[in-house]
Amino acid sequence: MAGSTSSEAAPVDGRTLRDVCGMFVTGVTVITSGEDGDAEGTTVNSFTSVSLDPPLVLFCLHKESRLRAVVDASRKFVVNFLQGQQEGLARAFAGKGTAEIRDVATHPSVTGVPVLSDALAFLSCRLVDEFDGGDHTVFIGEVVELGVPRQHQEPLVFFRGWLGALDEELRGVPSIVDG
Ligand SMILES: Cc1cc2nc3c(=O)[nH]c(=O)nc-3n(C[C@H](O)[C@H](O)[C@H](O)COP(=O)(O)O)c2cc1C
Repeated sequence: MAGSTSSEAAPVDGRTLRDVCGMFVTGVTVITSGEDGDAEGTTVNSFTSVSLDPPLVLFCLHKESRLRAVVDASRKFVVNFLQGQQEGLARAFAGKGTAEIRDVATHPSVTGVPVLSDALAFLSCRLVDEFDGGDHTVFIGEVVELGVPRQHQEPLVFFRGWLGALDEELRGVPSIVDG
């Protein structure tokens, strides 16, 4: 892949696609779903906002993820935006041996789905639609509650497989969120 700028049609392999998509810097979320003892969480960077009116967001989840059945059954989820110090949490909710929600500080959103109490911000959503996306499912949620409990902290960012805090220099940029 390195150095290639070819635009000719050629079979695209998954590893190369993942490497190229890794050049697109994103924030990092943990999606939580379910309630009480049945709640689960998974680290996800495929979050995006979709619509302001109505307020819709989406994320893409691998069809083999444990979280998929929980979202389908409960039809609600919370998008927790991680802050710069939560790299360990992001790794704990990714891959094998995924962390348990009960081991993390949480409080219930209006839907009952747990919010990670130390997250930078959160969006609590009701599932309104889902679409087939190849080996992933695209979940669309309507935002019913939101909050920015840690707005003065830097976000956790993901770039080329690297997880870390956004450069602290950006802290000087005025917030676009009032208050
Ligand atoms: C930074 C980062 C971003 C990720 N983004 C996604 C994603 O958008 N969708 C997804 O299905 N898995 C994503 N994963 C992988 C999941 O966190 C998890 O490893 C995978 O879904 C399988 O585990 P599970 O059964 O616990 O969900 C990501 C992992 C990391 C570390």
